[in-house]
Amino acid sequence: MSQSATAAKSNAKDTVTVTDNASGKAVTLPVMSGTIGPKVIDIRRLYSDTGMFTYDPGFVATGSCESRITYIDGDAGVLLHRGYPIEDLAQHCDFTEVAYLLLKSELPTAAEKEKFVYDITHHTMVHEQLAMFYRGFRRDAHPMAVMCGVVGALSAFYHDSLDISDPHQRMIASYRLIAKMPTIAAWAYKYSIGQPFIYPQNGLRYAENFLHMLFATPCETFNVNPVFAKAMDKILILHADHEQNASTSTVRLAGSSGANPFACIAAGIASLWGPAHGGANEAVLTMLKQIGNKSYIGEFLKRVKDRDDATRLMGFGHRVYKNFDPRASIMRKTCHEVLGELGIKHDPLLELAMELEKIALQDDYFIQRKLYPNVDFYSGIIFQALGIPTTMFTALFAVARTTGWVTQWNEMVEDPNQKIGRPRQLYTGRTRREFVPIVRRG
Ligand code: ACO
Repeated sequence: MSQSATAAKSNAKDTVTVTDNASGKAVTLPVMSGTIGPKVIDIRRLYSDTGMFTYDPGFVATGSCESRITYIDGDAGVLLHRGYPIEDLAQHCDFTEVAYLLLKSELPTAAEKEKFVYDITHHTMVHEQLAMFYRGFRRDAHPMAVMCGVVGALSAFYHDSLDISDPHQRMIASYRLIAKMPTIAAWAYKYSIGQPFIYPQNGLRYAENFLHMLFATPCETFNVNPVFAKAMDKILILHADHEQNASTSTVRLAGSSGANPFACIAAGIASLWGPAHGGANEAVLTMLKQIGNKSYIGEFLKRVKDRDDATRLMGFGHRVYKNFDPRASIMRKTCHEVLGELGIKHDPLLELAMELEKIALQDDYFIQRKLYPNVDFYSGIIFQALGIPTTMFTALFAVARTTGWVTQWNEMVEDPNQKIGRPRQLYTGRTRREFVPIVRRG
């Protein structure tokens, strides 16, 4: 078979014919349509019919699953959860309502929401023995390192929700993960600063409870600023799900082998940690601090544009959005609200970020590559204003994304077409060769 197969649309409706130019052999593949979005070519029969695989590092053109949860139109800057625009959800819902929507497909009624909030709230405590687990970590461990370990360890504590063939157990595990993640993240922070763990308070809402566990101490009453709680809630909504991103795909891939939900979410946390994904918000703040001053923006962007320099403009660019990330606009507004509440009229980092954004958006390099600010460009500035340390930024993202992860994991387990994820490869290593005994080598 030739290496230069070309794809061409066949005349027949909803099929694509791929022709191997070397042999002239053609194979017709079905085309599938979703409710919205581009059609996809069903290549499942490609190997059996042609003996060839497809090559797509980074899955830039490959749909790995069918999903009904989240839709993104990256060219139009649209993000829908179960059909609802993110702008509407961020404006009218709180995080638990969005979590319910994602997990159960519909927005809750008032009674359904009350029950859901009750159930989530009453799962926020973690097994007391888990508190001792933290002591095995070094004090200076990154909270994400602690979270990978502690979340994976949940499978050693909650044996009654490991049977993935039981929908009830799957739902209990999902509730547990959504409920316990703020406690686990807050405790990772408390451990790193040597403060006692703060237990969840059932009288507090999800975001408020999280901030309370992060900042309260047993020594005095700590009241969470409602503007901060609202900002945190919005941040959680904006990060709740984002279809088949790296960490979600990692959760699905790990889960495809039948692994338990706690292990799968720990895998998602590991993937999220990278600076090209969830670690970007931490990297944005580091970058802004490195630039330091508006007068150095030009010099910094020169390095970003230099092919021989690996520097990237963090918080810019997205695999899917080739237009404004709709979450970035909401995040920028929230950023102004938080700084306003704090009475900060001039925040040097925010001003630097805004100037950097303005200059980049007018620069040919970014225009040609369709690079726009993503959700992480402003989130780090809000987190800093809320008093959240840089190392906790990605942990916070993990708290929010857990809802998306468990939703996607449940969908995958229930999908009748689900198979163990097993990509193929283009092998470019040595061909078969004769073994040489060690005495004859060298
Ligand atoms: N700064 C400078 N150049 C960039 C940037 C950036 N932030 N992002 C992409 N480019 C350039 C690339 O160098 C490449 O240029 P070339 O065509 O001349 O080689 C072109 O734009 C395409 O970039 P790719 O890396 O191929 O795009 P990809 O889709 O693989 O990467 C990613 C997307 C990883 C998000 C990338 O834009 C990036 O690294 N951004 C910075 C990190 C970041 O903010 N990540 C957060 C993503 S959102 C999230 O996870 C919530």
